[in-house]
Amino acid sequence: MADTIRILVTLAEHADPRLVEQALEGDPSLEVIGYADYFDDWHEFLEQPADLVIVACSADDTSATHMVDRAVKHRPDRPVVVMTESSPNGFLRQAFEAGADDVITLPQPPSEVAFTLQKVIARRKGLSMPGRASAPLIAVLGPKGGTGKTLIATNLAVALAQRDANVVLVDLDLQFGDIGLALGLSPERTMYDLMKAGPPFDHEKLDRHLIRHSSGVKVLIAPTRPDQASAVSIEFLRDIYASLRTMCDAVIVDTPPGFTPEVIATIDVSTEICMVGMLDSLSLKNTKLGLETLDLMGYDGDHVALVLNRADSRVGITPDDVSTIISRSPDFAVPSDREIPRSINEGTPIVAARPSSGAAKAFRALADRYAKKPASKPAPPPTSSSGVRSLIGRRR
Ligand SMILES: Nc1ncnc2c1ncn2[C@@H]1O[C@H](COP(=O)(O)OP(=O)(O)O)[C@@H](O)[C@H]1O
Ligand SMILES: [Mg+2]
Repeated sequence: MADTIRILVTLAEHADPRLVEQALEGDPSLEVIGYADYFDDWHEFLEQPADLVIVACSADDTSATHMVDRAVKHRPDRPVVVMTESSPNGFLRQAFEAGADDVITLPQPPSEVAFTLQKVIARRKGLSMPGRASAPLIAVLGPKGGTGKTLIATNLAVALAQRDANVVLVDLDLQFGDIGLALGLSPERTMYDLMKAGPPFDHEKLDRHLIRHSSGVKVLIAPTRPDQASAVSIEFLRDIYASLRTMCDAVIVDTPPGFTPEVIATIDVSTEICMVGMLDSLSLKNTKLGLETLDLMGYDGDHVALVLNRADSRVGITPDDVSTIISRSPDFAVPSDREIPRSINEGTPIVAARPSSGAAKAFRALADRYAKKPASKPAPPPTSSSGVRSLIGRRR
């Protein structure tokens, strides 16, 4: 039998205590230690030895996110779950951004609630970096097509999975996404299906729409037809990112070329950027422009890694030239390798197919960078509702 879960329940201003009691009473594995409401002394309340905190609220309760934030900061290693009566668009994101581990929509029978809470606790224990409420979101960018973004996103994901990290890979190349192909996965369920399923985008719904690769990486496949791409909204992306970041160790997002509104929205919530460039003057010029754009957006340069792909190509440009053109030296260099096109055709990234190759070593070095990163909080919400405006408006 599962261990008893000791629970502290905080009731936000407009929560319905009866509904919460009905959801928590009757299952032998749930033990409510105490209830506190909005006006109680939370510090003393949260000091009590419990396994989990529940913040109960009505759907548009602004006090709820404040309570989540307090509970998370009080003990970052203890999971916080939100219980709400209904879940309109956007609310879930706020809860996850405040640090919630999951959201339960009421009414639900106590046995279902107990199952969800057990999963939350198990997930926390299973995280490679326990105590972290929100995983890093790594956006792989490159201002030009064919530079190796998809190659790097897939290999980085698999290299992290090889260290037992629980990784979700999102294909944001909405029109011509090819992660499914590169990993040999059939698009049984895609981002478009998830979008059609509608909110709330809780962990269970997301999990149902992720396709599992043999490496353990879970993939959110891009829409299969270009006309479906236009249905994917920025609001939707923000909602799913916030939720995904609380259900795994790292979210990696492969992007289309350029700064499309979806890419800008992704940069806005990302914690890390992996900028990919290649050894030709056009690509380097665009990489420089990309780095300058990130700077304009106020992105902290310490969180931008520069990856030079096909770094050993003999095309008349030396590594010194690269540093001169883009005003910084690359952090990682991936060599050209004939096995790479083959590995893509076979659907097994080179880091798994040829672990001793120079390219695989480069991808493991890149994975080191993220595996060793300290715990990070979710990025603050964007400063404006429009990604393009935030691009112009944000300063360091
Ligand atoms: N280092 C490399 N060595 C050999 N082939 C490569 C290398 N990098 C990229 N390629 C080839 O270039 C193609 C395009 O790479 P891809 O990752 O799809 O670019 P992007 O996602 O930036 O458009 C790949 O399918 C692969 O065949
Ligand atoms: Mg690509």
